[in-house]
Amino acid sequence: MRVLVIGSGGREHALVWKIAQSKLVDKIFCSPGNGGISELAECLNIKSEDIFSLLEFARKEKIDLTIVGPEAPLAEGIVDEFKNFKLRIFGPTKLASRLEASKVFAKELMKKYNVPTADFCIFDNPDEARRYIEEKKAPLVVKADGLAQGKGVIVAKTTEEALNAVKLIMEDRIFGKAGEKIIVEDCLEGEEASIIVITDSREVLPLASSQDHKRVFDGDRGPNTGGMGAYSPTPLISENIFKEILDKIVYRIIDGLAKEGIDYRGSLYAGIMLTKTGPKVLEFNVRFGDPETQAILPRLKSDLVEAILAVVDGHLTKFKRQNSWGWDERSCICVVCASEGYPGSYEKGKEIFGLEEIKNLKDIIVFHAGTKKQDNRFLTNGGRVLGITGLGANIKEAIDRTYEATKKIYFEGMHYRKDIGYRALKFTTVRV
Ligand code: AMP
Ligand code: GLY
Repeated sequence: MRVLVIGSGGREHALVWKIAQSKLVDKIFCSPGNGGISELAECLNIKSEDIFSLLEFARKEKIDLTIVGPEAPLAEGIVDEFKNFKLRIFGPTKLASRLEASKVFAKELMKKYNVPTADFCIFDNPDEARRYIEEKKAPLVVKADGLAQGKGVIVAKTTEEALNAVKLIMEDRIFGKAGEKIIVEDCLEGEEASIIVITDSREVLPLASSQDHKRVFDGDRGPNTGGMGAYSPTPLISENIFKEILDKIVYRIIDGLAKEGIDYRGSLYAGIMLTKTGPKVLEFNVRFGDPETQAILPRLKSDLVEAILAVVDGHLTKFKRQNSWGWDERSCICVVCASEGYPGSYEKGKEIFGLEEIKNLKDIIVFHAGTKKQDNRFLTNGGRVLGITGLGANIKEAIDRTYEATKKIYFEGMHYRKDIGYRALKFTTVRV
């Protein structure tokens, strides 16, 4: 089987790494890929958003299965285009991708189908938003409706900050058209966790739980990033909470979509706040999480490609009956090494040292994100550069082993958080 993976991040490297282990797969292409991926797959010089060139390639090269990593091509309708040509592709259609591409759509759907989330109001007029904020008072969260590269959410501790967010999003249009409408919602308190499932719109197959670390600095300080590290599983999600999330959130939203005539196939990511009154949805993403995927897939014992094919073909119920879907009991953490300046502007082209040294370390995998390979050297090529990933008998061992390896990596300006997984440690200590 010939598989094409679309995307260029750590998530896509983890996907390619896992897909390469499948007995069903003979050849992997990745578009555009990165330095690390180029060691496992043939990388193409086509951007993730260039749907028509990707389609042409898939038709010409007789690709049997395409797996889409990032949200942008999904929101642009890559799945619809591939399906028109009867090509198998994993991911939701353009209409279904609105669950991530429009926060207004997602919130209205949650309200209609009784999916727990923060109370909210939608505005297309800044004056009305301001009146609401003055009345409600901070803390409040202001969100741009459309895709804003993960930056469209402003958690406002003061009323002034919330009012300023309205100005920035709706009047200054810092996120362009994505800010035509906004949501103002109540600020939730609690721990955050990520639950990712794959679904054929009827049945769901959950991946292991995980927790991301969105802020750039230790102790959850500084601006939000795409994610500075993750670990799996998280002790914050007990079996009961997991079940509650599946019943009250995942199945309800998928059933709700079905009732709206939308057949949701692909991966579904629920960003959850574990509040005192139960788990509530912060956001839905229509794709695998990044960096969560890097911490989850090394623990998956089953063949991901078989499960993905069951989703694409709508046979997930049968798949679940006939196959085991199992997880390594060990813990896994992924520490993201980023370029100087990230999540702001950064330079590219710095040589990365130490990769050879950690290549053969036991239970360490290096997933590449923003890297490129040039004359047998690896250079930085993005904000998030590497995801140093390690397994351990428990979270403490995984943390120690992974940081030991991370210390051996160097590039000019490299920075990483030193406390990935700390909440799990804190939680475990309290519990023991
Ligand atoms: P989102 O992209 O919607 O997940 O938002 C990004 C981040 O903003 C989340 O990971 C949370 O840390 C924070 N956030 C979003 N919505 C809320 C909320 N209602 N209450 C508190 N924090 C929130
Ligand atoms: N790690 C957060 C995301 O993938 O959106």
